[in-house]
Amino acid sequence: FTGAEEFVPSTGGLRGLRAALPSCRGCDLWEGAEHVVPGEGPARARMMLIGEQPGDVEDKEGHVFVGPAGRLLDKALEAAGIERDTVYLTNAVKHFRYERRGKRRIHKTPAVGHIVACNPWLVAERKLVKPAFVVVLGSVAARAVIGSGFKVTQHRGEPIELPDGTPATATVHPSSVVRSQEYRRDFGLFVDDLRAAAALAD
Ligand code: URA
Ligand code: SF4
Repeated sequence: FTGAEEFVPSTGGLRGLRAALPSCRGCDLWEGAEHVVPGEGPARARMMLIGEQPGDVEDKEGHVFVGPAGRLLDKALEAAGIERDTVYLTNAVKHFRYERRGKRRIHKTPAVGHIVACNPWLVAERKLVKPAFVVVLGSVAARAVIGSGFKVTQHRGEPIELPDGTPATATVHPSSVVRSQEYRRDFGLFVDDLRAAAALAD
């Protein structure tokens, strides 16, 4: 993949990014998608949450975290005392990667090549929003903003610093909680991590 770099405008702010995003051909994922899904939230948000990639519902609607993982995230944010509309929500990869099985579209984890190709959009969002604190949701986001060696399950909820010095913490992806066999426990742990993030961000 050639990557998103040449498609990312250097002026125009978040609106400019949003306007340019549908023209991105930085990797092959745009071909099978209905919508590209830009980050959403206040341009001056103190906290940025970074997920993996849009899911089936997000791809159809063109908005972040509006499907099952989004509903879970909403519940968890509320339980942790964080208002969703105060945070900036985005993904490491902006198009939905899936496998077709009959009529169903099954989520497929983005390859490292997709994460790398899409990174210029995330870098641009981070430069514009300049969040005081970042919450990394799951291993794909961790690969994008921390690096390849980081194990989310080993370090969840711990205070960390991103390579550029931004204070952060990592936790699991909300869709792993949706699929959990031990839902109550895993939901509670996820809320604990978000609560820790809120305290660290204060
Ligand atoms: N999962 C994500 O990582 N992001 C979304 O927007 C939806 C599901
Ligand atoms: Fe561009 Fe990212 Fe979509 Fe690939 S996934 S086409 S790099 S916006």
